[in-house]
Amino acid sequence: MRKKIVAGNWKMNKTFNEAEDLLFNISDLLKENPVAGAQVLVCPPALYLELAADIAHENGFDCGAQNLSEHESGAFTGEISAAMIASTGAKYVIIGHSERRTYFGEKDDLLAVKVSQALKHGLIPVYCCGEILAEREENRHFDVVGGQISQALFHLSPDDFAKVVVAYEPVWAIGTGRTASPEQAQEMHAYIRKVLAGKFGDAAKETTILYGGSCNAANARELFAKPDVDGGLIGGASLKAEDFVKIAHSF
Ligand code: PGA
Repeated sequence: MRKKIVAGNWKMNKTFNEAEDLLFNISDLLKENPVAGAQVLVCPPALYLELAADIAHENGFDCGAQNLSEHESGAFTGEISAAMIASTGAKYVIIGHSERRTYFGEKDDLLAVKVSQALKHGLIPVYCCGEILAEREENRHFDVVGGQISQALFHLSPDDFAKVVVAYEPVWAIGTGRTASPEQAQEMHAYIRKVLAGKFGDAAKETTILYGGSCNAANARELFAKPDVDGGLIGGASLKAEDFVKIAHSF
């Protein structure tokens, strides 16, 4: 059975004390009302990964990083390697978020290397794809997303592919309050699964495909009810424990 996941992407938010509070608040809410049948995951800034891994693992959830270096180790000031992330106890890493693509110039060929680097160190990549508004308006969204998928994932072996999580995040929906409709999400998720099946066959049926982009406690249930939407990658709404845990209960 395909795994369901609700992942929080904290982005560049929270000081150490605030992060600790949020982690404990999420833990308390999950203790009161455990989430059955879905993996809950937080992706805080990398500085807090060890703390997050400790608290998360004691309380039945998991944590991941928001980015990693494509390099193994060495003279890359300011960068964080896959081995370092794995050594904190984190299990996942977001790769290719649209903010990395837009503000840091990350392209699919680099992201392909990052995906491999994560897998080499036992981290589960959460590979993000999604079109910008102009691409949707020009009816190029399927081509754009299909290209992002093939260029960053098609080099993988079947064994490695089986570990990958995909997140579809239409850029026009991220942080804008404008969510994709459940139908738009389903249409693209089904398309992504078809593209993956063209390369990896039946294994694509098992791929977890998350939706991200203004997903919140009010709209998550409708989105997650769609057959190819296996959960969410949550930005803004993951910064409040009540909202985030409510989303995790939306299956
Ligand atoms: P948002 O962000 O939920 O704030 O739109 C989602 C994301 O960027 O992962």
